[in-house]
Amino acid sequence: METHEINKRFLAHFEGRGHTRVPSASLILDDPNLLFVNAGMVQFKPYFLGEVPPPYPRATSIQKCVRTGDIDEVGKTTRHNTFFQMAGNFSFGDYFKEGAIENAWELITKSQDDGGFGFDPERIWVTVYENDSEAAGLWQRVAGVPSERIQSRDGRDNYWDMGVPGPGGPCSEIYYDRGPQFGREGGPVVDEDRYLEIWNLVFMQDVRGEESPKYGHPPIGELPKKNIDTGMGVERVAYLLQGVENVYETDLVRPVIARAEEFSGRRYGADHTDDVRFRVIADHARSGVMLIGDGVTPGNDGRGYVLRRLLRRIVRSMRLLGVHEPVLPEFAGVVRDAMGPSYPELVADFDRISDVVKTEEEAFLSTLTSGSRIFDLAAEETKSAGGGILAGDKAFQLHDTYGFPIDLTLEMAAEQGLTVDEDGFRTLMEEQRQRAKADAAARKSGHGDLSVYREVLEQHGETQFLGYTDLQATARVIGLVADGVPVRSAGAGQKVEVMLDRTPFYAESGGQVADTGVLIGSGVELKVHDVQKVVQGLFVHRAEVVAGELGLDTELTGSVDAARRSMIERSHSATHLVHAAVRGAYGKRAAQAGSLNSPGRMRFDFTTAGPVSADVLTEVEEEVNDYLQTDVEVQSYVTTKDKALELGAVALFGEKYGNDVRVVDMGEYSRELCGGTHVERIGQLGLVKLVSDASIGSGVHRVEALVGTDALRYVRKEQLLVSQLAGSLKVPTEQLPSRIEDLLTRLRSAEKEIEQLKTRQVLGSAGELAAKAADLGGVSVVAEQLDGIDGNGLRALATEIRNRLGNRPGVVALFSPAGEKVSFVVATTSAARDKGFAAGKLVPSFAEAIGGRGGGKPDMAQGGGSNPAGVAKAIEALRAAVTGG
Ligand code: ALA
Repeated sequence: METHEINKRFLAHFEGRGHTRVPSASLILDDPNLLFVNAGMVQFKPYFLGEVPPPYPRATSIQKCVRTGDIDEVGKTTRHNTFFQMAGNFSFGDYFKEGAIENAWELITKSQDDGGFGFDPERIWVTVYENDSEAAGLWQRVAGVPSERIQSRDGRDNYWDMGVPGPGGPCSEIYYDRGPQFGREGGPVVDEDRYLEIWNLVFMQDVRGEESPKYGHPPIGELPKKNIDTGMGVERVAYLLQGVENVYETDLVRPVIARAEEFSGRRYGADHTDDVRFRVIADHARSGVMLIGDGVTPGNDGRGYVLRRLLRRIVRSMRLLGVHEPVLPEFAGVVRDAMGPSYPELVADFDRISDVVKTEEEAFLSTLTSGSRIFDLAAEETKSAGGGILAGDKAFQLHDTYGFPIDLTLEMAAEQGLTVDEDGFRTLMEEQRQRAKADAAARKSGHGDLSVYREVLEQHGETQFLGYTDLQATARVIGLVADGVPVRSAGAGQKVEVMLDRTPFYAESGGQVADTGVLIGSGVELKVHDVQKVVQGLFVHRAEVVAGELGLDTELTGSVDAARRSMIERSHSATHLVHAAVRGAYGKRAAQAGSLNSPGRMRFDFTTAGPVSADVLTEVEEEVNDYLQTDVEVQSYVTTKDKALELGAVALFGEKYGNDVRVVDMGEYSRELCGGTHVERIGQLGLVKLVSDASIGSGVHRVEALVGTDALRYVRKEQLLVSQLAGSLKVPTEQLPSRIEDLLTRLRSAEKEIEQLKTRQVLGSAGELAAKAADLGGVSVVAEQLDGIDGNGLRALATEIRNRLGNRPGVVALFSPAGEKVSFVVATTSAARDKGFAAGKLVPSFAEAIGGRGGGKPDMAQGGGSNPAGVAKAIEALRAAVTGG
């Protein structure tokens, strides 16, 4: 049965049982605790937590998921995918354990002719959470599973949460027995390869705190209702139903393996080590494309780093299969063909996806080249120091700076007959991991416990936002929090978080910074410096009490700093216009990757492949400013999401929209889903001046612009700078470029002249030095210390002296100390070489004295050392070598 069909049957089964079909959420749904969506329930989290009333009591979905915790297992086991699809059914306070068990059992055991999966009921095993006799009883009663095939396990296996604070609950898992040839008897507690987990039913009822009940820590609370969250591994069911050996050979993954076989000329199934590589390639190619499809771009931290690592592992694995040419765009095409029917955005967006992988692959291939150079140097050093082990810190540097996986270093070392200090490498890696962990812990503590805010939300409902129209409004204090705990009052000088039933203050979101202002009541005054929606729907005003005492229930008048808000609005409206212009210039490939709208200044990040030319940005600036002159009215309205998308409104990657969305129009030119505030007419922007653009990581570009008066000030400042330059160079401004060019040319030629004079001066001493040649056993030897001459100078001088020695057997050795180092050159005449004096061979005679090394051809050798004090000794040693030779 094709994967596509499995998904279809799953959804149909649950739709037929009153579930609303919900599309997969983006892989990068905005959840500060989560790198990627890793389960079907993530998009429903607010419903489980009771933060938002669920729009339907039951739902079903096929969710795109990424989990990279077990990345090293990929390809080695039968079941580890970094990207997979989770089929799920969800009940929000509707049915509970019985309904979940009944529904799942029916679908997996119903015959394929009747629309089920047709698994043999005799081969199904289940596990339950320790002491969950209710679930065990239901499995027997509802499904007829005999007690021998029901096993009890502790929280580590049968408690599920998101890995972070949030909803959780005990679970019951469904396993399929693949048969005795795949492992030992005894059910899932004995062997999870033979008994393959296909479906997890979570009885979602708890709130998990910082520590997980998986490991025996009690939950910190109960969810408002009892819910169901399930997840069936689509790829696992596919591999069982398709009669293949593992998840990599299923219909949607295997095509990449086939293409990799074509590229490499090697065959899948012939060699175990190669097979693992083939599977890694197929798995990672799919994950990479799906991530890029959802707007992730390669980078050095967070999501971008995970993506980068996946893509690099493909390139690396291909090299191990003997392929050095670029492969990623080809693989991306194969993934598009396989996944496109379920995820049409991959087809629509393919040009962009292909550009991203192409750019990343090119960059990595050049990294490999420069890293290889560092590697060669380290290998050479190791060998010349007589060692056979490449130091751990070198391997770490290659990994950390050049992105070299350790196995690449190991392999390259082996090619050179070296081993690697892997222990040393791992120690350094571990130290780095600890640092990262400490970092993450520090960041997390910022999140703290949100239950105090949830309580306020539960009691009073969402904050009513008045700030689209009003900058001043009266409101009632419904909650006060100081240092993370609820308080009843706050006095002068105290910092406090104030929650109001309604507010004119905008809370930071969608790139628009928060409003500031004051809250004033009878005898009390507060200054608001930040506003955040700490939990969805609840505005938290971070403020300081300036005078008086503030208590719960107090009536306050909030006044937003209006001038500042206007500046922010101008920035925000400018962002929409720049976005529209960038899309006009680059098409849909240019996707917004982030923005910041602060007073007078806006920042807009977008993804493109390849460089962004200055010309295009000039055009963007020109187009935006032209459009300002139309002075169209900015209009906003609320409509359904489908309607908005139909109207061509631009939605952002990773942003979660409800069913009703707000649309902001600036004529026909720009139409975006947006919850922010804007100017009334675009003429208010006055002027939009792009001030900088830079690449901030592969494929992501950042433009910054100043708006309104700030733009004017900027232009004025630049103008002043230019006139100052014109003043000091004494030319009219329009002649500045040619004047500066002229000065630079003169400077460069003066530098060249100095260089030549210096060389001439050095060479001028050649005659004198040649005349000082000492005759040592028929060989004229010039061995001198000369200060302050660089390597090239030494070489030129040695050649010149050698010329002057003519047909005589002659050896020239020049040493030049500079600071802690000394460089040297040895040159021999052809008559000397006839007598057996090769320059390269003379080097070892004195190298030790100056703590150095070097080498070269018979006529000329060059090198350096670290002991300038040893030059006299080196000269002696060289002379002795000539005399003795
Ligand atoms: N959320 C549950 C899981 O991911 C179903 O296993």
